[in-house]
Amino acid sequence: MDLTGRKIVLGVTGGIAAYKSAELVSRLRHLGAEVHVIMTRNATEFVSPLTFQTLSANQVVTDTFQAPEYWNVEHVALARLAEVFVIAPATANILAKMAAGIADDMLSTTVLATKAPVLAAPAMNTGMWTAEATRANVKTLRERGVLFIGPDSGMLACGDEGAGRMSEPEAIAEEICRILNRAADMAGLRVLVTAGATRERLDPVRFITNDSSGKMGFALAEAARDRGAEVTVVCGSVSVPVPEGVRTVRIESAQDLYDAMIREAPEQDVIIQAAAVCDYRVEKQSATKIKKAEGQPLTLTLTENPDVAMAVGRNRKKGQTLVGFAAETDHVQKNAVSKLKKKNLDMIVANDVTAPGAGFNVDTNIATLITKEGSEALPLQTKRQLADVILDRILALRT
Ligand code: PMT
Repeated sequence: MDLTGRKIVLGVTGGIAAYKSAELVSRLRHLGAEVHVIMTRNATEFVSPLTFQTLSANQVVTDTFQAPEYWNVEHVALARLAEVFVIAPATANILAKMAAGIADDMLSTTVLATKAPVLAAPAMNTGMWTAEATRANVKTLRERGVLFIGPDSGMLACGDEGAGRMSEPEAIAEEICRILNRAADMAGLRVLVTAGATRERLDPVRFITNDSSGKMGFALAEAARDRGAEVTVVCGSVSVPVPEGVRTVRIESAQDLYDAMIREAPEQDVIIQAAAVCDYRVEKQSATKIKKAEGQPLTLTLTENPDVAMAVGRNRKKGQTLVGFAAETDHVQKNAVSKLKKKNLDMIVANDVTAPGAGFNVDTNIATLITKEGSEALPLQTKRQLADVILDRILALRT
């Protein structure tokens, strides 16, 4: 772990776990980071600002109107300086303020203004953590991209037992390293992502398709691009703009996708197939608009499309990592495992597309990552966050 020269802003709020944040600062400094601490007034009741000042070797900010050290021109200087903004411990109160956009002290003001990734390490009584209001605030923050670590379960300072302990400083430091070191960890890799829906034409004006927006595939393409990969997106019908800085191959039907993938796949190191491919097309496409036959039912005969992922799996090149998605409505795990095997994939991302906040045409997803070794159920998070977790696991599979 190396954080040499990385700029971390740490917000400390008022909980007994604040003492563990002193150790966190110490660890981050040992790893070479530049740490700037903002404390809420309540936090200063638990640990003295002098402790953080000594450990961070920087002035600790406790008050919006304190003598200016960082914000003589603009009080959001720390928000700009942060490469990652960590809040540890994060009380129910700061989570509520962040969810509501309240900016009534230095910490809430600065975190509202930052564009850096925000990592919260909650610490509170189990009842507060499981309270409906906190659940809703955490859900809102996750949907906006705030990252969470913990809380862990165990004996709490108040004597209760359950979820609410702040994660250990070592685990938080590791998570910070992961967030910051993602920057260029895919440099030199060629990554192909399929995205969007295929369209199967019935006639010149009508088609069969599905609800895929392209958001999941594009999140993966953007994340891989930001991590230094050379990215190709093979893209069907989508409702959001294609990311900048990636090569794009447009396709319409499953057959087009098949042709594109047979051509493009051999050159790739990593292939992630998030496109929603129609399994069937009409047997005979009409060259002219199908006319309405008054009072008569219209029967379409459908024929099976090629299974693109299966073809890519059959022809896989040495050293390639193949990842598929499974869009399921029932028996999610069982169906996904069967697709993992049949399509010769290294990993499949199973999403229950009936779950609120998951699947088609939303900004978030709830996924289970399944490999031959086992499965990992992930919480609701933005598609961009999920994309980074998928890429982390792909890199781990390649080592
Ligand atoms: O685009 P969004 O609105 O963000 O929605 C995201 C998503 C729901 C489309 C995405 O998360 C997802 O689940 N994509 C896979 C959709 C799908 O086709 O699932 P499937 O279970 O039917 O297919 C399994 C795998 O085989 C997929 O990787 C698919 O790309 C591939 N496949 C399927 C059929 C086929 N004929 N050829 C294929 O290659």
